[in-house]
Amino acid sequence: LTDIFYYHKKIKCQRGSDVPQPAPSEALEALFIEARSHNGWRDTPVAESVLRHAFDLAKLGPTSANCSPGRFVFLQALEARQRLAPHVSAGNRRKVLTAPVCIVMAYDRNFADRLIDLFPHKPEAKAWFSNPAMSAETAFRNSTLQGAYLMLALRALGLDCGPMSGFDQDGVDREFFAGTSWVTNFLCSVGEGDPDALFPRLPRLAFEDACWVL
Ligand SMILES: Cc1cc2nc3c(=O)[nH]c(=O)nc-3n(C[C@H](O)[C@H](O)[C@H](O)COP(=O)(O)O)c2cc1C
Repeated sequence: LTDIFYYHKKIKCQRGSDVPQPAPSEALEALFIEARSHNGWRDTPVAESVLRHAFDLAKLGPTSANCSPGRFVFLQALEARQRLAPHVSAGNRRKVLTAPVCIVMAYDRNFADRLIDLFPHKPEAKAWFSNPAMSAETAFRNSTLQGAYLMLALRALGLDCGPMSGFDQDGVDREFFAGTSWVTNFLCSVGEGDPDALFPRLPRLAFEDACWVL
């Protein structure tokens, strides 16, 4: 019960309840149960204000030492998505071109340069990442988490997502990040998904198959 109390403490306090309370069922539906990885897209535009709102939610998600290595390029203009299209797999090309927005979920290899702002109480934090392998692992791990936070934030704001790893990373990096320290992690189409283009939901592992409680 102590653990449950810990995880629900904030929600409980917000609602003034005495017992642990899960988020409202509508939120669980929107974030997990109803939400799907979309393949087909309607041409409903996505306002930049919604993208900004989603980022402002997602940036609150935790990263190690608050390092926040994730960088996000919102390809909204068709011309921008046309620059991406040659670098994605044939199966993903249409998705990139037809979704109103495609995000290049990236990270900054030099993320540690910002630790002086992000972790100011430990001025020595930048030196923790002087080991290149440790720095690369930290950037990849935390930017992946931040990409996931962003997808959940977009879902929470009523949008659909379609993540993609079928692309030529060097090509995308050359196209968008030449001369910078940014590196592509994965892509994600965003907009109003077409439910008719969904595949049936695939099975998931059971708790017993994927989890240990020790
Ligand atoms: C990181 C990542 C990369 C993915 N790459 C592709 C991709 O390149 N092409 C594709 O069609 N689907 C891709 N998917 C979609 C997955 O196949 C999909 O999320 C999974 O089957 C679960 O589908 P559901 O969310 O609708 O249940 C990717 C998903 C993730 C999270």
